[in-house]
Amino acid sequence: MKIGIVGSGFVGATAAYAMVMEGIGREIVLVDKNETRSRAEANDIYHAVPFARPLKVTSGGYADLKGSRAVIIAAGVNQKPGESRLELLQRNSAVFRAVVPEVLAHAPDAVLVIATNPVDVMTHLAARYAKEHGVPSSRVLGSGTMLDTARFRTLLGSHLGVDPHHVHGYVLGEHGDSEVLTWSLVTVGGIPLEEFCRLRGARFDAEQRQRIDLDVRKAAYAIIEGKGATYYGIGSALARIVDAILSDQRAILTVCTPLAASWGGGDVTVSLPHLVGEAGVLATFPPVLTPGEEAALQASAGVVRGAIEGLNI
Ligand code: LAC
Repeated sequence: MKIGIVGSGFVGATAAYAMVMEGIGREIVLVDKNETRSRAEANDIYHAVPFARPLKVTSGGYADLKGSRAVIIAAGVNQKPGESRLELLQRNSAVFRAVVPEVLAHAPDAVLVIATNPVDVMTHLAARYAKEHGVPSSRVLGSGTMLDTARFRTLLGSHLGVDPHHVHGYVLGEHGDSEVLTWSLVTVGGIPLEEFCRLRGARFDAEQRQRIDLDVRKAAYAIIEGKGATYYGIGSALARIVDAILSDQRAILTVCTPLAASWGGGDVTVSLPHLVGEAGVLATFPPVLTPGEEAALQASAGVVRGAIEGLNI
């Protein structure tokens, strides 16, 4: 099965490398306006195949996306130190106006996986273009808070001394400063967090919860300050999403996709737990939250809705 990646910068190339090392798909095509870069990245990643599983990695133009089951769109500019994701909106919406129609024209059956920030608004914009091409919004999803959820689980696991694969919890809403860590939903090995802490003699006082909240919410800023960009976490999150699509896993993931009007006033794209398979988003599961978490989630959706309205799309 074929995967397209538009934008072979740090994020796109790292996603390709992650998929090679995990044996996701059979062919990856990198597309970038800088053909020299995409060719070099494709060759470099292809040379890792002998250490992984058989998989073809090439570069090309939009026409080479033909037949892709999923296309990652990672084209655009990324945050500079101290810059918020929402500040990228005007520049990256201009990039999307050029890129997304081309992807839809050459890979009309693909699920679009948006990575470009601000990813919620960019996913909403891509879904608008998709609708103009007769593609349902369920076939357009973004990485959303997949990476934030991973960060949350990693920090919880580290604090509790448990493999994060066995820590269940969600970050929901905007992939950005207003995101919501839903502590009330956290379970460890299927045990609610409070009970698990009692059993293990562990504790999360207010200061520790605030520390974890800050470390998740501001993770990207700290990493960008130190190395200029983030790409390993997001690259692996994108590989996870594409695997769920290509293998029709019906995985429940905190990706973002345009939400039905029935949710919180509708016409907004934020992350909730969604069922993801080969056709994209199969179902949405609005979580049962505390009143405080629900209010924060609606406020986060309001931040994204305001940015969408500012696009005049
Ligand atoms: C981050 C980027 C992907 O959170 O928004 O690292």
